[in-house]
This record gives sequence, structure tokens and C-alpha cells, in this order.
Amino acid sequence: MKIFAYSVRADEVDFFTTYAQKYGVTLGTTTVGPTQETLSLAKGYDAISILTTPLTKEHLLVLKEMGIGYISTRTVGYEHIDGEAAQELGIEFNNVVYSPYTVAEYTVMLMMICLRNIKTIVAKKSIQDFSISCLIGHELHTKTVGIIGTGKIGKTVVSILKGYGCRIIAHDPYPDQELAKSIEYMSLDDLLTHADVITMHVPAPKDGSPLLGKREFDIMKKGIVIVNTARGTLINQHDLMDAIESKKIGAVGLDVVQNEQDMYYYDKRYEPLKNRDFAILNSYPNVFITPHTAFHTKEAVSGMVEQSITRCLEYEQKQ
Ligand code: COI
Repeated sequence: MKIFAYSVRADEVDFFTTYAQKYGVTLGTTTVGPTQETLSLAKGYDAISILTTPLTKEHLLVLKEMGIGYISTRTVGYEHIDGEAAQELGIEFNNVVYSPYTVAEYTVMLMMICLRNIKTIVAKKSIQDFSISCLIGHELHTKTVGIIGTGKIGKTVVSILKGYGCRIIAHDPYPDQELAKSIEYMSLDDLLTHADVITMHVPAPKDGSPLLGKREFDIMKKGIVIVNTARGTLINQHDLMDAIESKKIGAVGLDVVQNEQDMYYYDKRYEPLKNRDFAILNSYPNVFITPHTAFHTKEAVSGMVEQSITRCLEYEQKQ
């Protein structure tokens, strides 16, 4: 089978080489994403492997004409592919499922960073301000942590948090029966009102309406800590900024933000950043932001690349 992989990063190259050999596939790669200018690179291939570059109906039409029957996204989320158009055109696509520990461990790390004021501690230390006034932290074991979404990642967060000894509450339209024996499931509003720390492990909202906005921030406890390692569109960012400025929110850890697409994974040191909301959010001392790197471990990247190749092969076997 001939697979063309877009957006291949340096840390993926060895994995692609290893797995292409292991599964006997012919592989083409490029560092750039699939755009109207670069789609022709995949001419002559059977399937493409992509990351998060949006594939609209226009892109899919070109791929169809080129004879591409299958798209594998090396990501869990697949909202960047126009699913309806793909179905209409008869192009199959699928996502991958990699180690949930990569995002789960990162999520707990962001909770700790928020609870212990690490952003301010590190900033002060860098200018030799070793005073500790106003820097008192909180212990996680005394907190009630609310998990929204108990799929693979949410469940792994729960398993890690059990070691911290905190109370764990959860919301999911489809509660996990086994998990329900050891944690409390409740309605979303109940979770929002009872939690001291909230984390979300759900897909991007399909209709674009955020899960957390003014109404939700209003019913949360004062001093709430919010962590988002899922999708930026889950939070209404302007409402979040209002709630931070009014001191309703204690701290926020964000691995994802709105409109990160043209910003993350690029070196933007020498350009004015065209994302004013990000610049403001990033300026708050109690907001700790990382550039969508929760997924980025050797274990997960290996899984993403291997599964992307095996997904393509599964498609080929069905033909
Ligand atoms: C996903 O797999 O859905 C992610 O969020 C990571 C991706 C941006 C590389």
C-alpha cells in the first residue's frame, strides 16, 4: 500500500521509517500540511495520513479526483475533517487512539501547577526574587476534582488522582458502570457547583457552543481551578477572561486555546502575534498555558504513527 503522510515532524520520522518497514508500506512524507497547494504531493498514493490541518469539502474533492480513498488522522480528535463531505464523496477516514496516559498525566501536572502557583514562583525566581509572600498553595488531596467525560483519558485521570487521595466526582452522559463503584457521577451543574478543580475530557462541541461559559462560571465555587487539555472551543474565552478578572476563578491551566490553529507548533518569535485574546490570557499570573503538547510523549507519538499506518492497511484489506 502507498501512504502519503503530511505534517511529519522531526520526532515522528524514525517512527515512520520503522513502521513503514514493519508493515511493508511505501511511504511518502512532507513536513507541510495538506492544503490546496500541497495536495498534489499525494498523487499516486492510496491513502493519506494527516494531523490537524483542516480538510474541507474543496480539499476532499481534490483528493477524490486523485484517487485517495482513505484518510487517517494521527489524532484522537477529528473535527478538522469535514465528515459529511467525506461521506458524500465516499472517502473513508478514521482517527487513532494512543496512550491515554500522555494527556492524563499532563492534566494532573497542570492541576498541580495551578494549585501551587508555579507560574509566579518560576517568574519570580528568574529575577532572583526568592520571597514567598502571596504564594501560598493548596494541597490536591483536600480538593474535590470534577471530571467531565470519563472515556479513556478521563478514566486514566481518575486512576492517577486516586493516588492523591482527593474526592473525585464525574459527569458523563454514559457513566462507566465499573468506575461508578468508586467515584460519584452527577449532573453537570452539580459537578460545577461542588468541584474545587475541573477538567474536561470530551470532544470539541459539534455545534460550536462551548461547554463552559458565563452561566457555568457563575455557579462554580469561588477560587475554582480549571484545566483544559481537550479542545479550546470547550470554553468561552471571553467569559473565562471576565471570570478571571473578577477573581471568581482561582487558576487556569490550558493546553488548548481558541484559534490556536495558526499559532501552535510554529516559531512565532519574530512576528506580532495575531491572537489578542491569547496574549491577554497568557499575561494573567494565574493562567498557565502550554502549546497543545499534552499528547507529546515517545509512547504516544509511536502509537499515533503506528496506528495511522495500520488503519490504512485495515482499509485496504476491506477493499
Ligand atoms: C489529538 O490527538 O486529538 C490531539 O489533540 C493531539 C494532536 C493535536 C497532535
